[in-house]
Amino acid sequence: MKTLKIGICGWGNVATGLFNALSENSAVIKDNSGTDFHIEVIGARRDNPKCDPGSTKIVRDIFEVINHDIDVVVELIGGVEVARELILEAIKNKKNVVTANKAVIYHHGDEIFQSAKKNGVRVLYESAVCAGTPIIKLLTEELAANKISKISGMLNGTSNFILSNMEEGSEFDSTLALAQKEGYAEPDPAFDIEGMDAAHKIGILSSIAYGTSLPPEDFYVEGITEIQKSDFHYAMEMGYTIKHLAVAKLDKNNIELRAHPALINLDSHLANLKGVRNGMEIDTDLIGKIHIAGSGAGQESTASGLISDLVHLANTPSMKMLQKSSDSMKYELSLFSELVFQYYFYIEAEDIPGVMASITSLLASKSVGIESIVQKEELSGNCVPIILITDPFKEDDYSSLKKELLDLESVRDIRSIRIESD
Ligand SMILES: NC(=O)c1ccc[n+]([C@@H]2O[C@H](COP(=O)([O-])OP(=O)(O)OC[C@H]3O[C@@H](n4cnc5c(N)ncnc54)[C@H](OP(=O)(O)O)[C@@H]3O)[C@@H](O)[C@H]2O)c1
Repeated sequence: MKTLKIGICGWGNVATGLFNALSENSAVIKDNSGTDFHIEVIGARRDNPKCDPGSTKIVRDIFEVINHDIDVVVELIGGVEVARELILEAIKNKKNVVTANKAVIYHHGDEIFQSAKKNGVRVLYESAVCAGTPIIKLLTEELAANKISKISGMLNGTSNFILSNMEEGSEFDSTLALAQKEGYAEPDPAFDIEGMDAAHKIGILSSIAYGTSLPPEDFYVEGITEIQKSDFHYAMEMGYTIKHLAVAKLDKNNIELRAHPALINLDSHLANLKGVRNGMEIDTDLIGKIHIAGSGAGQESTASGLISDLVHLANTPSMKMLQKSSDSMKYELSLFSELVFQYYFYIEAEDIPGVMASITSLLASKSVGIESIVQKEELSGNCVPIILITDPFKEDDYSSLKKELLDLESVRDIRSIRIESD
């Protein structure tokens, strides 16, 4: 039986998961892959109280791992700049690299892949997007015969957990606190709830499906912090729910790349994916829509993705990279301001005669059509919520419309969410 010799850099949560999975599932992994995976060395700047490495060699300098007789460096330190340096150094020394680090792939992917190609080694990163839920090799291998028109989904477990709980009637703050208590959200959850984690993941998926650059050009990212519990109530009355969607979509000769909250149809597949799981819908030409969902974080799930990369390395002798090989497949990003959406507006206004007329005439003056407008039951303080669904109009006109609505004398507050077309 062949052996793949592994050096691990970083000795935290995910490294522990990998170490345990390789030993606890070793029989099934050997049976499925025909390979013996052997951890030769671990780069750990301190001991890990949660994992006993047994007789495996420990070195305190992570860069020293590269000098050992290994086939692959598994980078599990996280962060961006030291990880980039470590990966490039490993590549220069003709070591393959497996990483779970979405941040380093997002910010330095093109540089890393070019260096790997030049040095004749591979860099694999299945677990960098949605941990063990298989999406990278699904796009590059199983769907290789398909033209992909759209990838969309909930790529951040914490956001999906919070929004699913708000759909059931909880408030944002208490659900975020629960996510932190359950260990889904980081102590500083900004990266999750402000949309950057999902943005990193969709940027990487877009590079695979459409050859967009890593790092990508700037694209629109918005988090979930402005959404209120009552938005779910009004959205559901109209047949929608609210999700944080990350989208990469082929739009003629350009790519739409964006990550923001969206109203989606209640009967859609994505609407029914609740809780901390990640879920994606991929629109293909040969097999139609494909759905994939699973755990997008955690040491076991991430270990599963890492081991799938190690198996791929052992069993795929070719130099196949998980990137587009032809420059002719590369696309530019669409301008977000040129995109067209329908919008949901929650407008809180004084309950006085003429308020509806002032809103509808403002929209008419801006040539924005109205699909529906409904005045709801009065709130305290002589206020009424008005729920407006517009016809599709250009994103470019959206900010000025929102500002002018807020400037109306009777309007006290306003919120809005884009509606995702099917
Ligand atoms: N956790 C998940 O569910 C998950 C899911 C998918 C992907 N990932 C990715 O997996 C990677 C690792 O995540 P994790 O949760 O295992 O993080 P972690 O528990 O914080 O572990 C990171 C390890 O790397 C070490 N380290 C960090 N910077 C270092 C440096 N400059 N030099 C030497 N050692 C350094 C840390 O050492 P100290 O303890 O001394 O700081 C620690 O041992 C990240 O890229 C993350 O995005 C994680």
